[in-house]
Amino acid sequence: MNDTTPYLSELLLRLHGIDISKYEDSFLHNALLKGATESRCASVEEYGVLLKERRSAADLFLQYLNIQYSEFLRNTLTFSVLEGIILPSLLSKIKAGKRKELRIWCAACAAGQEAYSLAMLLEERRPGDPDAPSYRIFATDQSDTVIEEALLGRYSAGEIQNVSMKRVAAWFTEQGGVYIVREELRANIQFSVFDLFSEQSRFPPESIYGDFDLVFCANLLYYYKREYRQVILDKVRSAIARGGYLVTGETEREILLQNAHVEVIPQSAIFRV
Ligand SMILES: C[S@@+](CC[C@H](N)C(=O)[O-])C[C@H]1O[C@@H](n2cnc3c(N)ncnc32)[C@H](O)[C@@H]1O
Repeated sequence: MNDTTPYLSELLLRLHGIDISKYEDSFLHNALLKGATESRCASVEEYGVLLKERRSAADLFLQYLNIQYSEFLRNTLTFSVLEGIILPSLLSKIKAGKRKELRIWCAACAAGQEAYSLAMLLEERRPGDPDAPSYRIFATDQSDTVIEEALLGRYSAGEIQNVSMKRVAAWFTEQGGVYIVREELRANIQFSVFDLFSEQSRFPPESIYGDFDLVFCANLLYYYKREYRQVILDKVRSAIARGGYLVTGETEREILLQNAHVEVIPQSAIFRV
């Protein structure tokens, strides 16, 4: 906790209309240190003066807060458990029930890596299970910039480094060093802008009614103060169908464990809701 953060929070709101009050103090402090270094300020206090005086510096600071880093198949254990246990079991359950499709929500999808990774796993099951139910992935993020990137589905070699060569050959087309996601992976994904703090809806309006079998809410909870994490968790939990699962990031497992949630397999970051 740094004494500068409450003062700065009030100041940015008053002078520039920028609301940083939801962010965790330690997260804000790290962003302030980064901003001070990048702007060659001698101290956080000096950086505070810069933020006060220059709107452009404040906008840049906001970008430091909005971390949009993601990876394909991020967290190997999570995706192995999904591939080997969770997805087969959800698909069997759907086959036996009334509903005809598997419904997934990636609630902070960044540039689409999470959603395309899931589509890969589901498409790869199809040849061995021709009667498998269809699936739909609703992939949302608060940032329209990342949603535009997700829709383009174009990645550098570095961005697909977690994807095996076999999968790269199967699911991407290479054009001058850029790897473009194949149409089959896009077909069942709907990308849209959705802020998890939106008071209008508990789930992406495109999904019509929520009721998801699997929700990814990974690598964003730790940015926010406890009460705001709770708002997000309540929202995503309420959108999960009975017997469904919630997936978080490796670093956020503790938040869920402290909330009396039980992991399906230790360290998997997958929770039954
Ligand atoms: C670090 S990325 C994580 C992406 C992906 N879930 C993963 O685990 O790789 C965090 C994402 O959360 C999004 N985000 C942050 N706050 C959000 C909110 N209130 N509603 C929706 N998306 C949010 C950011 O725009 C960013 O794209």
